[in-house]
Amino acid sequence: MNTLLSAELIDLHPQPADLRRLVVEGMHRSPRQLPAWLLYDAEGSRLFEQICEQPEYSLTRTETALLERQAGAMAAALPDAGNAVVVEFGAGNARKVGPLLEALKPAAYAALDISAEHLGEACQRLQGQHPRVPVLGICCDYSAMAELPAHPLLSGRQRIGFYPGSSIGNFTPTEAISLLAQFRRLLGPDGALLIGIDQPKAVNRLEAAYNDAAGVSAAFAKNLLVRLNRDLHGDFDPARFRYEAQWQPTRSRIAMALVSTAAQTVQLAGERWGFSAGEALITEYSVKYSPAAFAALAAAAGWRVSRRWSDPAGDLSLQLLVGRDSHERQATP
Ligand code: AVJ
Repeated sequence: MNTLLSAELIDLHPQPADLRRLVVEGMHRSPRQLPAWLLYDAEGSRLFEQICEQPEYSLTRTETALLERQAGAMAAALPDAGNAVVVEFGAGNARKVGPLLEALKPAAYAALDISAEHLGEACQRLQGQHPRVPVLGICCDYSAMAELPAHPLLSGRQRIGFYPGSSIGNFTPTEAISLLAQFRRLLGPDGALLIGIDQPKAVNRLEAAYNDAAGVSAAFAKNLLVRLNRDLHGDFDPARFRYEAQWQPTRSRIAMALVSTAAQTVQLAGERWGFSAGEALITEYSVKYSPAAFAALAAAAGWRVSRRWSDPAGDLSLQLLVGRDSHERQATP
């Protein structure tokens, strides 16, 4: 590694979430539902990486291959990328952006994440791998901020957002529109957004992807109970819940839930909560968008789909969004 190069870091010290309030709110919903990001404590993040290696969960592999294969075409669709900055939302360990940096050769790369924990390390590694692209890590809550921080690497440059992994699927369509509109504000009027979108497919494949034979998906969901026991003085017995992943065609989504196997009472956040036998606690949804459905969602947030690249099987796509009123070319359906 080139020790002369050092990624820069900005820590905006995002307000930590009020875990107790969020969980109590979620437990009062019907059906009970907790925010999906709660799944990602240290053990949850480790289990999610393991999910990505299961044969049934092809999303990550397929998207990575698509990015590697089409990075050149993406660069051709973004002719001014050399003067632009790539802004990744929720970069985490920033393991996906490599091929894009190689092909676009942007003027800078900014990794945004709410967790400072791995951001520094990830940026340092990336800076070593891409010595020509200045790397900037920004620890922030990008869903709430009014604008990107003032920084020479960011100012006066076109911004190309990057939001891979079909993470948008964890939000309800209404929340997804707000998030896409927020990206639009942060990226500016001539900004673009490259986003990964998983599509509806055969029910058996979808349900298997979220309930793998090795039981990693189930362990991932049940780890939420372990986390709640630790962080909010809970006494959940994970063995008294079974994991379920069900395709809900009318909502075009997978619903992941822990279902109580018996009538029981649990202690959590200083309160007692009754579960009837068969009662579900939703751990997350994963909404799947057809190209037409996603185009409508994007339009509601001020975006227009300019290009779309799909894997050979048509499982998922990377889509290039531009401002609704921009003159860039339009994707053909
Ligand atoms: C990280 C939201 C894209 O919905 O496919 C995978 C999360 N949960 N298996 C997805 C997830 C269980 C994943 N996203």
